[in-house]
Amino acid sequence: MANQKNILVTGATRGMGKEISKVLAAQGYHIFLGARNINDGKTIAEELESKGFSVTAVQLDVTDMNSVKYATREIPSLDILINNAGIALETSSPSKLDVNKVKKEFDVNVFGVMNVSSVMLPLLKKAEQAKIINISSMMGSLNSALDENSIVYGAAVAGYQSSKAALNMYTIQLAKELEKEGCNISVDLVDPGMVATEFGGLKPDTAKQMGAKSVDEGIRRVIELVVNENGNETITFTNNEGIVPW
Ligand SMILES: NC(=O)c1ccc[n+]([C@@H]2O[C@H](COP(=O)([O-])OP(=O)(O)OC[C@H]3O[C@@H](n4cnc5c(N)ncnc54)[C@H](OP(=O)(O)O)[C@@H]3O)[C@@H](O)[C@H]2O)c1
Repeated sequence: MANQKNILVTGATRGMGKEISKVLAAQGYHIFLGARNINDGKTIAEELESKGFSVTAVQLDVTDMNSVKYATREIPSLDILINNAGIALETSSPSKLDVNKVKKEFDVNVFGVMNVSSVMLPLLKKAEQAKIINISSMMGSLNSALDENSIVYGAAVAGYQSSKAALNMYTIQLAKELEKEGCNISVDLVDPGMVATEFGGLKPDTAKQMGAKSVDEGIRRVIELVVNENGNETITFTNNEGIVPW
């Protein structure tokens, strides 16, 4: 399709990444489905292709730089990068953290985003107008963690929360660098809210009982940012309700 935009979604095999891919493919974008397990990615790609959508499954483990670099062989051009892959492993109290689990969280949630962004930037810089959308969480908001009126105040998953706070700072710094260089690339953060996926090892039904929203609702803000062709506002942190405090 002429002028079809290319989007790479990391962690597209389940949960929000899979749904973001489906919804955007249905809107006519070409989707590169980033899949740690390529067979999972191919299964989803076949499912979407059977509906007439344009997709390519790409093996992509965000923690493995060789895998990230290799993925570029399959991606001729890129307009939008959605850094969605994320994990939450450690729930112990801050003083009793298993640091090895926290390192794994940082590997995916922070260093994974740095790996993929740095490798994909040369492609994004060639696009007329490009976007990087990083899936963060209100759990990474420092202001919310200190605000007694915020739902985040009582949360204490220090490893995951620290990783998303670090992702937020990386996002700010990358956006500022690209702006200074005069690149037409926005870099923004989205907080999906609590969403009924398998995230953190929960069953979607259990998450729903705990108040999680549907996956459709969880991806709404990401879809808005993608389809807003004129919007290239950078360094925003938003959710379905509006601005999220830093
Ligand atoms: N669900 C929530 O309540 C919630 C709330 C706030 C923020 N978020 C954020 O939203 C994003 C998506 O979460 P989700 O709920 O959709 O989670 P999910 O259902 O658990 O899916 C996570 C996805 O990330 C992939 N992934 C994990 N490690 C990876 C790696 N090393 N390389 C590439 N892909 C990897 C998984 O692939 P495999 O299938 O191979 O494991 C899977 O496709 C995450 O960044 C999360 O932090 C979620």
